[in-house]
Amino acid sequence: MSTVLISGGAGYIGSHAAYVLKLAGHEPVIIDNLATGNAWATAFGLFEQGDIGDSDFVRGVCEKYRPVAAMHFAAFIEVGESVNNPAKYFENNRDKAVRFFQTLHRCGVNKTVFSSTAAVYGEVGGEEPIAETTPTKPINPYGQSKLDAEQALRTLDPDGMRSVTLRYFNVAGAAPVRAKLGEAHVPESHLIPRLVMQLIDTPPSLLVAVGLQGGFTVYGDDYPTPDGTAIRDYVHIIDLIDGHVRALEYLLSDGETNIFNLGSGTGYSVNEIVEAARKALDRPDFLPDIAPRRGGDPAVLVAGSQKARDVLGWSPSHSLADILGDAATWHRSALYQATVLAKVRSKETAVK
Ligand SMILES: NC(=O)c1ccc[n+]([C@@H]2O[C@H](COP(=O)([O-])OP(=O)(O)OC[C@H]3O[C@@H](n4cnc5c(N)ncnc54)[C@H](O)[C@@H]3O)[C@@H](O)[C@H]2O)c1
Repeated sequence: MSTVLISGGAGYIGSHAAYVLKLAGHEPVIIDNLATGNAWATAFGLFEQGDIGDSDFVRGVCEKYRPVAAMHFAAFIEVGESVNNPAKYFENNRDKAVRFFQTLHRCGVNKTVFSSTAAVYGEVGGEEPIAETTPTKPINPYGQSKLDAEQALRTLDPDGMRSVTLRYFNVAGAAPVRAKLGEAHVPESHLIPRLVMQLIDTPPSLLVAVGLQGGFTVYGDDYPTPDGTAIRDYVHIIDLIDGHVRALEYLLSDGETNIFNLGSGTGYSVNEIVEAARKALDRPDFLPDIAPRRGGDPAVLVAGSQKARDVLGWSPSHSLADILGDAATWHRSALYQATVLAKVRSKETAVK
């Protein structure tokens, strides 16, 4: 059994990492400042509330639990917000992450799995699927802040910090119902929850709460793709975490610092996702709105993950129907709905 520090473990992806690690017999120790996360999501780890940028706090947690490795998920994730408020993203996703890595290193925690994003590649046209060797040219502060953190982590390698950076696009779905975990973002900007919530009779107050009152819109149906809509890559959260656990085992077996894409390798167009959701959720009548393309949305983004398959033995096993079905079950749950309404109420109180 290994003790593993999980930053951002009260959030969507980190909480699933704690769940899977716990099931595998490890001891997850979660640190999270609850900026966007939820205390209930820490159920599968020991929880210490605090900030990754607070070196005294992180050092205290490391001295108390003596983790053998860390998984770093803590970050802000809204691309649109990062464009409007880049300083918030560079402070949290880059500066605090750098401090966090340095503190880990000083505490002797020298194996780190970093949750990065395929947004570091930016607008890559024509070279599909994207490989880890594809040049990184982020087109928004979110992607740039994550790339800066990646690079800072790798600069610690000569001093003994071994790290695996995992880059992924669209993560969706949820753990089995008994785990009571799922994504609860406010606002919700990801395509699968935005679509699914329109198809499962979500109460109107909840749609308003997460910013989905305008219905579901397909942006652009004139891309140079077979059906004209943009093509993206979708990975089930449990497959994604399996990749993280394999990356951890790779580092614990003295693997070198490395970068892997985690993508299904199969692109789906937005229209294909809508059609799959109609079938999976029995809503053949559903018709999305169509709007012009948004700036900065490339036609095709699919992450090639052959390297993760070859080196880590990673092989995603969940289908698109699994992703949609698990997301629907989660978004129908009383826990999800109560969480979102509580977050909105607390934001309103903070404004008053
Ligand atoms: N969700 C996706 O589709 C996706 C895709 C690619 C990459 N990622 C990466 O995965 C990671 C997790 O994303 P998520 O969807 O779980 O987001 P999330 O918002 O659900 O979780 C992030 C967690 O980090 C915590 N946090 C943020 N700043 C902190 C700080 N300074 N100190 C302590 N805790 C802090 C938040 O409270 C929250 O619990 C991020 O690093 C993100 O860049 C996510």
